[in-house]
Amino acid sequence: RQNFIIAIDGFSSCGKSTVAKSLAKKLHFVFIDSGAMYRAVTLYFLRNDIDLKDVEAVNRALDEIHIDFVPNTDKTQVFLNDEDVSDEIRTMYVSDMVSEVSAIKEVRRAMVAQQQRLGKRRNIVMDGRDIGTTVFPDADLKIFMTASPSVRAERRYAELMAKGETITMEEVVENLAHRDHIDSTREESPLRQAADAFVLDNSDLTQEEQLQIVLEEYKKRK
Ligand code: C5P
Repeated sequence: RQNFIIAIDGFSSCGKSTVAKSLAKKLHFVFIDSGAMYRAVTLYFLRNDIDLKDVEAVNRALDEIHIDFVPNTDKTQVFLNDEDVSDEIRTMYVSDMVSEVSAIKEVRRAMVAQQQRLGKRRNIVMDGRDIGTTVFPDADLKIFMTASPSVRAERRYAELMAKGETITMEEVVENLAHRDHIDSTREESPLRQAADAFVLDNSDLTQEEQLQIVLEEYKKRK
């Protein structure tokens, strides 16, 4: 493999995508938000009322789903069957269901295959839950991000408030705990720290400090 792959994993709201984006920008790599793919699938399932236990319905739905990424200067746009769903996939409506949908084997197999295709021949930074363990076990640099639960909840709360969602801190804490639990206990590619991952706890680090630390790790491996 000629291209360089950076995998960033961790629990929800640890700041993975912020680091991934700034790193990709700095290195001129392509940033791929794997969570956005699971969110887009979840939105499709919600809209079409797919029964998550009906394997045939799930497979039929997966055949109908086409996800595209269009990288822009400040944010990546996500398209579900040619419709821009970038904002809708970030609502609580989707967040409340995404971990259930992401635990379905058929969904994971389809997404992992697409993620592996996206990582062919290009230098990428991909963030998610199973990137360093399942999608790219041979990634050149693996980062496992952590942050204290209160820091994570505050970040997510501020993010949702800024978007105008009416939500309480309690609901945010509950959603994070719920997703972490399902994400780390599911059968198919659960969230795990890869043995060879560099652990970055960013509870007390600025974004610039995080970027510098990760760039150091990149230089060691390049
Ligand atoms: O990264 P983000 O929080 O947007 O991901 C939303 C959800 O998608 C996660 O809570 C998880 O259930 C699922 N996910 C996953 N595997 C990934 C990325 C996200 O299961 N690689």
